[in-house]
Amino acid sequence: MFEASVDRSLSKPELYREVSRSLASLLEGEADALANLANASGLLAQSLERVNWCGFYLLRAGELVLGPFQGKPACVRIPLGKGVCGTGASRRETLVVPDVNAFPGHIACDAASRSEIVVPIVDAGVLRGVLDVDAPETNRFDTDDRAGLEAFVGVLTPRIAWPSLGLR
Ligand code: SME
Repeated sequence: MFEASVDRSLSKPELYREVSRSLASLLEGEADALANLANASGLLAQSLERVNWCGFYLLRAGELVLGPFQGKPACVRIPLGKGVCGTGASRRETLVVPDVNAFPGHIACDAASRSEIVVPIVDAGVLRGVLDVDAPETNRFDTDDRAGLEAFVGVLTPRIAWPSLGLR
């Protein structure tokens, strides 16, 4: 069994390096894309403090559809260009939102969420979805979180057999 034990004394960059290393070993030798995304969301939830939701939206037939996640049940479909997820996806750009109530069109899935980060997942030029992480406090995510989560997605993306998920 895999134990994600995170050393809380690490600096944020060190923590994210550790998490990305854990991700690589967690996915090593496993080809099932759904299982790997599920474990990636579990690893993040175990590793990050002060986070109430983390997981994936996958691009299916032109809209984002809820994928593996940790947290409260969430809205299933988000059109491209809508909300933080749809905006980050359509721009193919990481969005750090310090206060979700100040983001026009933010979609409130968990009323506890106060800040959010969305990292697009682009595999060989193809948009596959986003990683979304929510926090129950404003200003939770800084440039270290952005770099760390972008690196996490960078480790994840080539290790997922995206076509096997039936995405279009
Ligand atoms: N807040 C997101 C919706 C997804 S949930 O936070 C899980 C958005 O505005 O796109």
